[in-house]
Amino acid sequence: MPLPHSSERRIIIALDGPAGSGKSTTARKIAHTLGYVYIDTGAMYRAITLAALRAGAAIHNDALQTIVQTSRIELLPSAEGQRTLLNGEDVSTEIRSREVTETVSSVSALGVVRSAMVECQRELGNAGGVVMDGRDIGTVVFPQAELKIFLVASLEERARRRLAELGASAANITLDEMCAQLRERDRQDSEREISPLTKATDAIEIDTSSLSIDEQVSQILAFAEERTKG
Ligand code: CDP
Repeated sequence: MPLPHSSERRIIIALDGPAGSGKSTTARKIAHTLGYVYIDTGAMYRAITLAALRAGAAIHNDALQTIVQTSRIELLPSAEGQRTLLNGEDVSTEIRSREVTETVSSVSALGVVRSAMVECQRELGNAGGVVMDGRDIGTVVFPQAELKIFLVASLEERARRRLAELGASAANITLDEMCAQLRERDRQDSEREISPLTKATDAIEIDTSSLSIDEQVSQILAFAEERTKG
């Protein structure tokens, strides 16, 4: 007798890659299509960075330990994808400020910050049915994720996208300056000792330089469908 068709598994989809590679837009759409929860882990590192900047804390382990212990970060699903709350305050816009962006890679290189964030991310995603984007999701947070995608795109294309995304608030930033900002953040994220940005050996690499969002979303959805069949 044939086995009954097993129900679809709700898997963990890990989406990693450098800044501006299209992770968040792609992750949001995939989560929406599959009815999964979208978790933007970069927003967590950004919220801790904002808390450190507000407190005037030095960027080292001891000071950040206190910040981590006194900061409550909540991620709330919303129509735009995710709202980020810091101690009850909606900081979704403020965490995208230039100051936070310039400091976040130094904060997220610290061991005390990483261990707290990774623990929290594992709690959020453990049950499956999540699309989590970041730098170390497939390598460190969920090495057992059923589907791992590593998105890449040329530096210039990523800078163009980031300028378009920031709109009027980036009116005084040139393409060259944006390339330099992204290059520096990529360098810091890739060269740090703990959980550097790197492609997991079993991740599927997708170069999004000349793909539309819809094209990359449908490619990933096809992989997800394969993996969710019981
Ligand atoms: O959206 P964007 O590509 O600008 O970056 P993000 O996803 O908001 O992440 C901001 C920064 O947080 C990154 O440049 C990393 O330094 C750090 N991050 C990390 O270390 N690990 C993660 N899983 C996610 C972000």
